[in-house]
Amino acid sequence: MTTQMAPLSKLLLMSFISCVVQVYVVYMGGLPKQADFLATSVHTSMLQEVIGSHASESLVHSYSRSFHGFAARLTEDEVAEIAGMEGVVSVFPSERHQLQTTRSWDFLGFSQSLQRLPTESDLIVGMFDSGIWPESDSFSDKGFGPPPTKWKGTCQTSNFTCNDKIIGAKYYRQNTTHLPGDLASPRDTEGHGTHTSSTAAGGLVSGTSLFGLGSGTARGGVPSARIAMYKVCWADGCYDADILAAFDDAIADGVDIISISISPFVAHNYFENSIAIGSFHAMKHGILTSAAAGNSGPKPATTTNFSPWFLSVAASTIDRKFVNKVLLGNGKSYEGVSINTFDLNNTMYPLIYGGDVPNIAQGFNSTRSRCVSDSLNSALVKGKIVLCDALTSADAALTAGATGSIMRNLGSTDVAFTFPVPASFLNAADGSEVSHYLNSTRNPTATIFKSTETKDVLAPAVVSFSSRGPNPITSDILKPDLTAPGVDILAAWPPASTMTESSGDPRRVSYNIVSGTSMACPHATGVAAYVKAIHPMWSPAAIKSALMTTASPMSPLRNTDAEFAYGAGHINPSKAADPGLVYDAEEADYVQFLCGQGYNASSLRLVTGDQSSCSDVKNATVWGLNLPSFALSTQTKGSNITGVFHRTVTNVGSPNSTYKATVTAPRGFNIHVEPQTLAFESVLQKQSFVVTVEAILEAGMISASLVWDDGVHQVRSPIVAFLVSS
Ligand SMILES: *[C@@H]1O[C@H](CO)[C@@H](O)[C@H](O)[C@H]1NC(C)=O
Ligand SMILES: *[C@@H]1O[C@H](CO)[C@@H](O)[C@H](O)[C@H]1NC(C)=O
Ligand SMILES: *[C@@H]1O[C@H](CO)[C@@H](O)[C@H](O)[C@H]1NC(C)=O
Ligand SMILES: *[C@@H]1O[C@H](CO)[C@@H](O)[C@H](O)[C@H]1NC(C)=O
Ligand SMILES: *[C@@H]1O[C@H](CO)[C@@H](O)[C@H](O)[C@H]1NC(C)=O
Ligand SMILES: *[C@@H]1O[C@H](CO)[C@@H](O)[C@H](O)[C@H]1NC(C)=O
Ligand SMILES: *[C@@H]1O[C@H](CO)[C@@H](O)[C@H](O)[C@H]1NC(C)=O
Ligand SMILES: *[C@@H]1O[C@H](CO)[C@@H](O)[C@H](O)[C@H]1NC(C)=O
Ligand SMILES: *[C@@H]1O[C@H](CO)[C@@H](O)[C@H](O)[C@H]1NC(C)=O
Repeated sequence: MTTQMAPLSKLLLMSFISCVVQVYVVYMGGLPKQADFLATSVHTSMLQEVIGSHASESLVHSYSRSFHGFAARLTEDEVAEIAGMEGVVSVFPSERHQLQTTRSWDFLGFSQSLQRLPTESDLIVGMFDSGIWPESDSFSDKGFGPPPTKWKGTCQTSNFTCNDKIIGAKYYRQNTTHLPGDLASPRDTEGHGTHTSSTAAGGLVSGTSLFGLGSGTARGGVPSARIAMYKVCWADGCYDADILAAFDDAIADGVDIISISISPFVAHNYFENSIAIGSFHAMKHGILTSAAAGNSGPKPATTTNFSPWFLSVAASTIDRKFVNKVLLGNGKSYEGVSINTFDLNNTMYPLIYGGDVPNIAQGFNSTRSRCVSDSLNSALVKGKIVLCDALTSADAALTAGATGSIMRNLGSTDVAFTFPVPASFLNAADGSEVSHYLNSTRNPTATIFKSTETKDVLAPAVVSFSSRGPNPITSDILKPDLTAPGVDILAAWPPASTMTESSGDPRRVSYNIVSGTSMACPHATGVAAYVKAIHPMWSPAAIKSALMTTASPMSPLRNTDAEFAYGAGHINPSKAADPGLVYDAEEADYVQFLCGQGYNASSLRLVTGDQSSCSDVKNATVWGLNLPSFALSTQTKGSNITGVFHRTVTNVGSPNSTYKATVTAPRGFNIHVEPQTLAFESVLQKQSFVVTVEAILEAGMISASLVWDDGVHQVRSPIVAFLVSS
């Protein structure tokens, strides 16, 4: 899996390896209830049966604290044999996935002066990431008491010291040969995990900036909460086997919420995906998992974290943008997007086209040379500014000794990246003018200016790279659930990594500005933790509902794919703790949903570890799952489709309150709510209603909303109907 950070440089690095003997996850569902059950010996004897005496050498992880299963090195034949054994739910390869703030919290209206409850310091946020830099000011434990007594986790003290802020830290690696630059320690040598952890739960640090950019007080969503780091991501990615081992521990360790900014590959089954499995067991134990939607947008159906029992978070812009100017020898200047901290002191440099200076020695020619790694001839590029027809990491420009790089393509310019050389990314029209100037001028020159901050009046809008719905497995479960800031976020960074993670970059910083759904996810984690501090007994579904129904509606004018981009809308922390009503759900509800998805009782019992059954299959439609969103899809253009959604809300507002339903829908999208009024007389009282949705779809998606309003709370749910390709 990949961490969900800045899509560009990372995606170029990761390639997939497959070998004959591979690590597979053998998932065996919930732990049997017997007190004397020894999961590990069961795992070893299963392996012995298949591979004989070398069993213990092939065992990579044994999952036995929170659920049941193991990871082992197996051949395809051995996999086939194990898959047929009693008690095995699924066997799937341990694939490698990738990882995908000052201003952001204020932009969300979540002010630093907001009253906090002392219970916040009893919260433990479990981060599944690339490790953490414990010496960062954001993780100071000044003023913290000892860890909450419920904490059962550990601290691996290899080149690492925990404190009363970072109370737990452990690393997971199926392959003990670590990569150059990696440390066998929970310490973060990349930056991703330090950044996400400080966004979710970092303390207040004033006077932070990236060379003057984004200056202000860095803070996490829950500055008083504790952090437990589960390091599952390494320089080569994050493996399923390790992610499951971290879930197995985190649940048993007593974390309150899990934040996972990792995007898996799309699975075709809810139980062949380590994040779906791990978060299901977390949910059973009352722990909400907050996950990044993915960085593969803006194409539809690109979201890879979409199980109904966790929160899927899209990434959106905040009202601060980083831009910089490019000046040409003809006196014309253009504004690009970039976080450029280098100063060229207004000096003009020769401008050349990357396609004219291919690195022929490395097999590149003009047609192939678009400034990808090693593609530039350093003898011809040195000391010049190179124009590239693609947005790249600019590592090639750095390696070739270029002074700077101007990049252009048709892509969106809604996010600013950092580069290891002075650089600017221009929109297509401006880029084409620069190209024209270059082609039509004898000695073209240019210079690139330092970046400045401007106001982004269009914010919030979901950024182009954020993965989109619909849900690839169950289209009638709307995903992503909501959006949170994930563009150009300032947060803590380890000095062991450079600012761009490029080894040739001399800049080492303790706060850095990066983008990704990875950065959005910990914002949602922080808000969920804030809600949990106020309502410690709320279930994962109740917290998720509170975040979704209080989210601010967003404009389809900025994101024409509407709810597939932003789900219920833009997260609104200060409202989330007082939603009025919640759409609650528990394990039995998800089991019912899975029955409707065709999982039978015997396979479900393995997953849940209890006597779950599919008794009421008639009612096990997707539409019956008690979610705070409504989605109805069809494959048939022009047909009249109807969906009947049963929902139950729980009163968490005033004891005596009366809510009235308001539906906002375009003409031809008929929505009927019955009853239209819900009266409550006590807290935790439940009331049910039915929403009937009828639509004729000619193209795309139509959007509507249902709001339950008691005059104080507006409990808003998105309602969508859409065509899916068959
Ligand atoms: C501890 O971590 C630092 C920072 O990455 C590294 O430079 C050092 O070599 C590490 N020490 C050991 C003993 O691994
Ligand atoms: C372990 O990782 C190293 C470094 O990535 C790699 O060279 C080696 O092939 C891996 N070994 C196995 C058994 O996967
Ligand atoms: C720009 O000027 C500053 C201050 O004089 C100097 O440190 C820096 O090296 C100069 N930059 C370049 C690219 O010459
Ligand atoms: C450039 O390289 C590509 C890929 O190696 C090759 O297909 C193409 O024929 C080359 N073009 C020229 C003009 O040599
Ligand atoms: C400039 O020339 C390059 C080939 O060297 C070509 O690909 C590009 O389209 C030209 N730009 C414009 C604006 O005509
Ligand atoms: C239940 O589903 C599993 C997996 O799809 C299948 O192997 C098994 O035969 C099914 N059991 C029954 C009783 O239908
Ligand atoms: C389905 O569930 C809803 C809500 O729980 C209930 O009101 C309804 O009667 C059920 N329908 C059937 C067919 O069991
Ligand atoms: C669609 O079907 C519903 C019920 O089947 C019916 O009441 C409604 O009139 C139909 N709508 C159109 C536009 O035909
Ligand atoms: C709620 O209303 C009921 C009936 O109107 C009344 O008996 C009860 O005292 C009220 N409770 C509160 C907390 O106001």
